[in-house]
Amino acid sequence: MRYKIKIEPLGVEISCGEEQTILDACLRNGVWVPHACTHGTCGTCKSKVLKGEVDFGLASNFALMDFEREEGYALLCTAKPKSDIVIEADVEVEEGIEFYPVKDFVGKVIDIDDCARDTRKLFIEIVNDKIFYLAGQYIQLYIPGTDQNRAYSIASRPLGEGNSIIELQIKKVPGGLGSKYIFDELKQGDRVKFAGPFGRFVLRKNFDNPMLFLAGGTGLAPIKAMILDAIESGVKQEMYLFHGVRSTRDLYDQDVFSRIEQENSNFHYIPALSEKLPEDEWNGELGFVHEVLERKFQKFSGFKAYISGPPPMVDACIKVLMRGRLFAEDIYVEKFFNEKDRITGGSKVGVVSRI
Ligand SMILES: Cc1cc2nc3c(=O)[nH]c(=O)nc-3n(C[C@H](O)[C@H](O)[C@H](O)COP(=O)(O)OP(=O)(O)OC[C@H]3O[C@@H](n4cnc5c(N)ncnc54)[C@H](O)[C@@H]3O)c2cc1C
Ligand code: FES
Repeated sequence: MRYKIKIEPLGVEISCGEEQTILDACLRNGVWVPHACTHGTCGTCKSKVLKGEVDFGLASNFALMDFEREEGYALLCTAKPKSDIVIEADVEVEEGIEFYPVKDFVGKVIDIDDCARDTRKLFIEIVNDKIFYLAGQYIQLYIPGTDQNRAYSIASRPLGEGNSIIELQIKKVPGGLGSKYIFDELKQGDRVKFAGPFGRFVLRKNFDNPMLFLAGGTGLAPIKAMILDAIESGVKQEMYLFHGVRSTRDLYDQDVFSRIEQENSNFHYIPALSEKLPEDEWNGELGFVHEVLERKFQKFSGFKAYISGPPPMVDACIKVLMRGRLFAEDIYVEKFFNEKDRITGGSKVGVVSRI
C-alpha cells in the first residue's frame, strides 16, 4: 500500500510506502527536509502533520513529547503514513550546496582494518552502482536479520565521478546491535546493504573563514572526508584538526594527518589524549578536546567550526566556542547518537542538535 504525501509550503506531492518513513520518501524524491540522526533522537526532523494520520514509530519521548504528538507534530524520520497526508516542513535550501537523493546500495566488504582499540575501518566496494555524496554525510547500514539500521559516516573523500569504494570507521559499543554484527559477525568478502547519503553535516566550501574541525573518537570519520575534500579543492584558509581520544591505543590515522600537515602549511593537526597511561610515549596535548581547544584559542569569531562525535563531547565543544563568541550559525555538528540516547534522552537532545 502506498500513500500520497504533500509537503507544504512547497506544494510538492510524493508517494510513500506504508512501511517507509516519511523522511526516507522525501529524501529519495529530492525533497531535502531537515534531519540529522534519522533515528528519532535529535528532534531535527520534527514537523507538523496538517492532514491525515501517521504511525509515530520509534520516536524518542524526549525528542517528541506527548503534548507535541497531541498537537499534531511527528518526527519524519520515524513516522510512517496511515493515510494520505499533508505535512508542513521547513525545506532547506542553502546557497552553494546541492544534496544528492538517497538510494539503496549493495556492497562487498573488501577490507577490515582494526586500526585502534575496539575500532574498525570497513572498506566497502559498491557492486550495484556508485554513490554520490557530500563530504561529511553518512549511510544507514542494514543489520541482517533485523529491521534495524545504523548510521555510519563516510570517511572517504567524495569523488566527482561518484565513489565505488567507501571507508567507514566504527567504534565498538558494548551490548550494541550494530557492534555485534560488525565486530563479531562481519568478514571480508561479505555482502552488505546500505542506503544513503544522509545528513546535512557537510563541508561548506563557499566560505573562506578559517576552519576548526573537532572530532571525538570515530567522530573523525566525517571530518576526515571533509579535510581530504578541502585539501583536494585547494582550500587556502587555515584549518585546525583537534582529534580527541582516550589513550594512544585509541589513536589512528596519525600518518594521514601528519602527512597532510607536512604538505600543507595551512593545516594543523592536534591529536589529544584525555588520559596518559604510564606506557604511553606522548609529548602531545593532554585533556578533552574542548579543554585543548580552549587552551589554544580564546576567541573564535570569524571561524567556521565542525564538531563530530559522542553527544557530550559535542556539547562541551559548543559551550567553549560560544563562550569564545562563535555564533550558532557558524557551528555545524554531528552527534553520534545511539539507542541508549533514544531511550534515555541522551544529552540535551533537541536543544543544541538544531545547530
Ligand atoms: C549521524 C550519525 C553518524 C554516525 N556515524 C558514526 C561513525 O562514523 N562511526 C561510529 O562508530 N559511530 C557512528 N555513529 C553511531 C552509530 O550509528 C551507532 O549508534 C553506534 O555505533 C552504536 O550502535 P550499536 O548498534 O553498536 O549500539 P546500539 O544498539 O545503538 O546500543 C547502544 C547502547 O545502548 C544500549 N541499549 C540498547 N537498547 C537499549 C535500551 N532499550 N535501553 C537502554 N539501553 C539500550 C546498548 O546496550 C548499548 O550499550 C553515528 C550516529 C549518527 C546518529
Ligand atoms: S532526524 Fe529525526 S529525530 Fe533526528
